Amino acid sequence: LANGLGKTPPMGWNSWNHFACQINEKMIRETADALVSTGLSKLGYTYVNIDDCWAELNRDNKGNLVGKKSTFPSGIKALADYVHSKGLKLGIYSDAGYFTCSKQMPGSLGHEFQDAKTFASWGIDYLKYDNCYNDESKPTVRYPVMTRALMKAGRPIFFSLCEWGDMHPAKWGAKVGNSWRTTGDITDTWESMISRADMNEVYAELARPGGWNDPDMLEVGNGGMTKNEYIVHFSLWAISKAPLLLGCDVRNVTKETLEIVSNKEVIAVNQDSLGVQAKKVRMEGDAEIWAGPLSGYRVAVVLLNKGTQKHIDITANWNDIGIPPKTVVQARDLWEHKTLKTPFVNKLRATVESHACKMFVLKPVA
Ligand code: GLA
Repeated sequence: LANGLGKTPPMGWNSWNHFACQINEKMIRETADALVSTGLSKLGYTYVNIDDCWAELNRDNKGNLVGKKSTFPSGIKALADYVHSKGLKLGIYSDAGYFTCSKQMPGSLGHEFQDAKTFASWGIDYLKYDNCYNDESKPTVRYPVMTRALMKAGRPIFFSLCEWGDMHPAKWGAKVGNSWRTTGDITDTWESMISRADMNEVYAELARPGGWNDPDMLEVGNGGMTKNEYIVHFSLWAISKAPLLLGCDVRNVTKETLEIVSNKEVIAVNQDSLGVQAKKVRMEGDAEIWAGPLSGYRVAVVLLNKGTQKHIDITANWNDIGIPPKTVVQARDLWEHKTLKTPFVNKLRATVESHACKMFVLKPVA
C-alpha cells in the first residue's frame, strides 16, 4: 500500500499469542517498558500491538468505539501517549465484520470512516483488521473501504490484513494493505510453525517493500518448542521477510528467548533494503534449502533439517541459490556469529541437527 509504511517488514509485539483476551492497560504499559529495558526496541521492535478484546461490546451514543472500562480505564489515547513517550508505536485491532473474532467487541463494518478517525485521534500507528462475523460480501469489497478510511484519517497507520481465506489476499493485498496473512492461526508447535512457513512460501513472489506476506506472529518464548526449533522459527520468518511480531510475555522473557530474537544479524536479513522474500530452492528428504537475495549481491541461506535423523549433511549449490558459477564466496554463520575461514566455490556444505537449521549470509569476494 502506497502509504509510505512497511518499507521493511514491521517489528514489534502483539498480545494475542500469549495472552489472548487476558489483556489490560497495565500489562501493555509494562510490555512497552520491557521492550525498552531489554534492548529490544533499539533492535527495531517498536510496534506494541493490542489484539482482540480491548473495547466495550457496545459503542457509545455517538457510535464511537470505546476502550473497555474494566481493563482500559484510562482509555486508549492515554495508552498511546505513554507508548509514544517511550519512543514506541501503538497498534490496535478491529474487524471487517459486525464483531471481532472473539465476539467480545464490535467490528468496524459500516463504521470504517468513523473508526479510522477515532484511531487517528488516539494516535494509533498500526491496525490489524480481521474478517470474522462479516456480511458474507467479499473481503475484496470490505477491506478497501478501511484502506480508504485510513488514507483519509490524517495519520500514517500501518494496515495489516488479517485474512487468509479462499480469496487469497496475497493476490490482492498489495493494493489494500501493508501485510496480509497467508495462513490460519499459528500454534506453539513445530508442526504448526513449519506448515505456516510452507504455506507462506508459495506467495514469495508477491512480497515487496510496502506489502508483506504474513505467516502469523512469533511463538518464540511461549514454551511449546525446543531452543533449536525456535531458532528455525525465527530464521524462517526472518528470511521470508515476515513481520517479526513477538508473541511472548516480554516482561518475563528468558535469556534464551532474548538471545534468539535479539540476533542482530538475522534481524538484518529480515530488514534488508532489497525486500525480496526467500524461496525454498531445494528439498531432498528431510533436508531443505531456503534462499533469497540481499542487497550488495549477497545471498541469505537457511539449511534446514526437518526430520528426526540426528545429523544430516546439506549442500547448497550456487546453482540453486542464485550465485553465478565459480563465484568465490565468504560465508557468515549468523547463529555462530562467525565468518567461516575458507572461502567457498560452487557450494557450501554443513551438518545440521534434527529440527534445527544453519543460517548463512554469502558474500562474493572480489
Ligand atoms: C483471529 C486472528 C488472530 C487473533 C484472533 C483474535 O483468529 O487470526 O491472530 O487476532 O482472531 O480473536
